[in-house]
Amino acid sequence: MNHKKEPCPLFSRDEIAAAVNKLSIEIGREYRGKCPLLIGVLKGSFIFMADLIRSLDFPLEVEFIEVSSYGSSRKSSGRVRMIKGLTAKVTGRHILVVEDIVDTGITISFLIDYIKKKRPASLKLCALADKPARREVPLSVDYLGFTVPDKFIVGYGIDWDEKYRYLPDICYLEDE
Ligand code: IMP
Ligand code: MG
Repeated sequence: MNHKKEPCPLFSRDEIAAAVNKLSIEIGREYRGKCPLLIGVLKGSFIFMADLIRSLDFPLEVEFIEVSSYGSSRKSSGRVRMIKGLTAKVTGRHILVVEDIVDTGITISFLIDYIKKKRPASLKLCALADKPARREVPLSVDYLGFTVPDKFIVGYGIDWDEKYRYLPDICYLEDE
């Protein structure tokens, strides 16, 4: 699939930095002194995770998990495939899942079930963006950066078919 339109800016790097800073204050209130394990969902969360942890000024650990549900289509396939599971010990730990964007909720509900089976002490969700218009599985985001419209989002780590991750701003792609 080809698209010829330019990505349109939605949130600037300054707005993202302010949102990350606000999230780090909220997360600090809850997790300071608990040495939480932040589990980033690859690949889309890698830039968000890098900025978020550098604004958290207390001990924590980082782990990544990789799932895939999109392929090169702009619509979710509705199926979640585990590409890289967890190696860190989760039982008894305070877990914060760090996701790029929650859309239908299928990916995150799959991951929450997977992590819950490992009996963490607590489990919460932090997402850079939420697209509530397309939710199929009811779930709420505990720590949210931005609510986004029903558009295809790219930039700041988020891709379309592996492209646009490098854009420093959050953008959307026009429908073809
Ligand atoms: P869900 O399972 O439909 O909630 O989709 C979640 C996953 O799909 C996220 O982890 C994203 O990686 C990807 N995704 C959802 N919406 C978008 C988007 O607008 N742009 C890029 N990726 C998206
Ligand atoms: Mg993702």
